[in-house]
Amino acid sequence: MTGNNAQKGFLHAIKGSRPRWVFIAGVLLLFVTSGMIQADLSTGSGQAPSPGSGQTPYQLALPLGLEKDSLVIPEDNPLTKEKVELGKLLFFDKRLSANDTIACSSCHMPSMAFTDGQPVSAGIHGQKGGRSAPTAINRAFSSAQFWDGRAATLEEQSVGPFANPIEHGFKDHDELVAKVKSIAGYGPLFERAFGSPAITTDLIGKAIASFQRTLLSGNSAYDRFAVGNEEQALSANAQNGLRVFLGKGQCLRCHFGFNFADEQYHNLGVGSNKKESDVGRQAVTKKDEDTGAFKTPTLREVAKTAPFMHDGSLTTLREVVDFYDQGGLPNAHLDPAIKPLNLTEQEKKDLVEFMESLNGEGWNVTPPTQFPK
Ligand code: HEC
Ligand code: HEC
Repeated sequence: MTGNNAQKGFLHAIKGSRPRWVFIAGVLLLFVTSGMIQADLSTGSGQAPSPGSGQTPYQLALPLGLEKDSLVIPEDNPLTKEKVELGKLLFFDKRLSANDTIACSSCHMPSMAFTDGQPVSAGIHGQKGGRSAPTAINRAFSSAQFWDGRAATLEEQSVGPFANPIEHGFKDHDELVAKVKSIAGYGPLFERAFGSPAITTDLIGKAIASFQRTLLSGNSAYDRFAVGNEEQALSANAQNGLRVFLGKGQCLRCHFGFNFADEQYHNLGVGSNKKESDVGRQAVTKKDEDTGAFKTPTLREVAKTAPFMHDGSLTTLREVVDFYDQGGLPNAHLDPAIKPLNLTEQEKKDLVEFMESLNGEGWNVTPPTQFPK
């Protein structure tokens, strides 16, 4: 599906000497800014903050390795401190469900790198869906969200689960809005964030998306090695794993760029052997060739987000590596980039160790202890 020339050139270049690939590993993170940068991302919206509404620009601190130019922040939803704070309350508030038991954080828990540790998530009344909860980290770098990319923006994604009968369980978004309005303490917070006491689905989405954009992961051992030039940051095995990732494993073809995701959809065959297999991207595009294709997930924090794949069918990173090594699961729509790899035992171990080096920081939020009354 992808035939990126820059990438081929890159793969070619790494066949050379070690210093060369180390250098290029840095460039893998195309145009990365080094060090912690303070980005004022609140400017650029045509909207002047209305007086008294307290729209304070939110200073997003990007950990080492994350690329400021790749942030996706819509013009009409600049990051402000007030929106982020409101969005955080909405994200953690279990009252925003049909029976006061489910919050976004029920399935995206801070303690599990914003996943739930389950193969597939359980929502309201313990009902199970068919997909595994991906991390909510580094969503600031993507437009399309969900495994099949059906939400075009993070704003759209941020209200989707409320009206899902097996997630938050509201009949529709009007019910959600009514619930938020019934909690008197939210009115003043919407007024502070948006300059008017109105509460709408759209504004709820903007606030939650703003909060989610502050959940970042960078400054991992890998970043310190590749971008920060700290030679000691990666073990020799992890360095070898990186070499396999870029070379023999061909992982870079899809887990591309500083967020290790090409924002494209690929069929690896995961779940294709099940009786009722998930059509994935095909449900959105209606194109036959997208059958069984899913969005390439970021690999940042991946060692913390087991089980893996859209259906949570692989339990450990080693199982994932074995799955790729065998050439995925052949089916009519298998991505041509997926082929048997013939990795050695050592290469497999090193690849896992490399992925473990992608644990970083920037997402350690403290859940609120008090909610609006
Ligand atoms: C019952 C568990 C559950 C609840 C509650 C839930 N989610 Fe999710 N979340 C999931 C699952 C499962 C997926 C994958 C669904 C899919 O791709 O079709 C997902 C996907 C996502 C994604 C997409 C990530 C990506 O890489 O594309 C984001 C972001 C997200 N959820 C945020 C939220 C927010 C915000 C809320 C609250 C409004 C929420 N979730 C509520 C389980 C849940
Ligand atoms: C053809 C594109 C492609 C290539 C090549 C590729 N991946 Fe993936 N990767 C994906 C997609 C798409 C998924 C999700 C597939 C699904 O759930 O059906 C995924 C999922 C994963 C996951 C699970 C992440 C999670 O959060 O569940 C890991 C780990 C992973 N890949 C590592 C690798 C490694 C290591 C390599 C190289 C050996 C590699 N990938 C090569 C596209 C690719």
